[in-house]
Amino acid sequence: MAPAWEAGADLVVVGTGVAGLTAALTARELGLRVLVVTKAGLGEGNTPWAQGGVAVVLPEEHEPGDTVARHAADTLAAGAGLCDERAVAVILAQGPGAVQRLREQGARFDTARDGALARTREGGHSAFRVIHAGGDATGAEVERALVNAVRDDPIPVLEQHIAVEALRTPVGDVAGLLVLDAEGAPGVVRAPAVLLATGGIGQLYQATTNPELATGDGLALALRAGAVLADVEFVQFHPTVLFSGPHVTGRRPLVTEAVRGEGAVLVDHSGARVMADVHPLADLAPRDVVAAAITRRMVATGQDHVLLDATHMGGDAFRRRFPTVHAACQDVGVDPAHEPIPVAPAAHFSCGGVMTTVDGRSGVTGLYAAGEVARTGLHGANRLASNSLLEGLVTGARAARAVAADLAAGLLADPKLAEPARPPAAPVVDRDALQRAMSRYAAIGRDASGLIEAMSVLDTRSVHRPLETHRAVEDAALAMVASTLLTTALQRTESRGCHVRTDHPNTDESWHRSLPVRLDAAGRL
Ligand code: SIN
Repeated sequence: MAPAWEAGADLVVVGTGVAGLTAALTARELGLRVLVVTKAGLGEGNTPWAQGGVAVVLPEEHEPGDTVARHAADTLAAGAGLCDERAVAVILAQGPGAVQRLREQGARFDTARDGALARTREGGHSAFRVIHAGGDATGAEVERALVNAVRDDPIPVLEQHIAVEALRTPVGDVAGLLVLDAEGAPGVVRAPAVLLATGGIGQLYQATTNPELATGDGLALALRAGAVLADVEFVQFHPTVLFSGPHVTGRRPLVTEAVRGEGAVLVDHSGARVMADVHPLADLAPRDVVAAAITRRMVATGQDHVLLDATHMGGDAFRRRFPTVHAACQDVGVDPAHEPIPVAPAAHFSCGGVMTTVDGRSGVTGLYAAGEVARTGLHGANRLASNSLLEGLVTGARAARAVAADLAAGLLADPKLAEPARPPAAPVVDRDALQRAMSRYAAIGRDASGLIEAMSVLDTRSVHRPLETHRAVEDAALAMVASTLLTTALQRTESRGCHVRTDHPNTDESWHRSLPVRLDAAGRL
């Protein structure tokens, strides 16, 4: 299929969440020609669903005694030994500047009575340092501000266009993208720099907080372009996702950790506390600890959910502080003022991704990544709550600066040298079968026989299909990310962070390292 259309830019950004739009705006400030590509509409994606907030220690407005070093210590503790200390230090130190910039771009955060920014606490944090907007609608406010700034600029955005494959020069540099437009017509975007900001992988599982768009497209594209992925086995399950029945699948509403930050507690159906005696921080333990404890309690009691009791807040206070959660509860007939909220863990965040520096460089010339799709080393084996919007803000801007610097230094390829790629063929698996297998065998509590069973589902049910439709691109990405995740989850014979192996329940110091993965010359893992 010959390309039906062609476009060009200095930088093409794939994705319109916090990292992608921050990168696009920064690159424009640096004078680059920027084109944004999104398979959805501008303003859709994972970011608008983020509730809790942005974890940041602001110079003027922090809890007495709180410091960036303390935030770093909490991040390292949550990451269970696999964070990159330098990445943690750099990203957290630049948080205040990034938040300041976002406020200049129009984002409005909630304030307390004295006019200072309101701060809450979430799992794993030793201080009240999570700022929020609209009560529990922080992601929506961040996205609103960034979308308005992009429209005001204006930065061109190709909506309903899906990135299929990186264009490569004869020496393997990335210099643009093969893209399918809204009608599925293939086109070529020539650009010396491509920044992936495509978000996460929640759609690998039957129940997730992520929207339909979270199909891991950027990870698959990066692997095929020669990049290295790491820490993909660490899928974070959010402990408290609204439970509305055992057979409800797809995106499920989050019940933000900030509800526990405001004093709510997890109980089982007999009223016994779930987190008592599990961790010194009890209900505010790091997310992996809480999700695993809930899972154990569900198994022990034979129930498919537990309960989050926030009745101490009273109806008005709850509705004012958590309007999004309140509305979701109402939709399923639950009144959080008078009864506990039914919750269960669901897939939430990919701690691993495309291995990058804190400047988004992937190691493949011309290919950059930022946000959830990237693995900078900030999260290690388990992300600290509300560090993800912060990472997107900081690394999105840093990646744009890295592109500008690499261009100015003449390090990037001439896009005219890139071969116009054809849509490749790749293994595709029926999405329902894949989600069933991943949910059963590769969620919280994995073992070797289950992981091998899931791999055999992938092997026996895969068919090769040309990536000529949006759906085929997504299904091929899901299949490739699932294979990568299953392979690394099987190799890692220990439990650490979000990776819980029932056949290897202990943490093993010989696994105190990340597992990098790349494709060989034959395209195999
Ligand atoms: C939450 O509000 O609990 C989710 C925030 C996050 O994923 O960090």
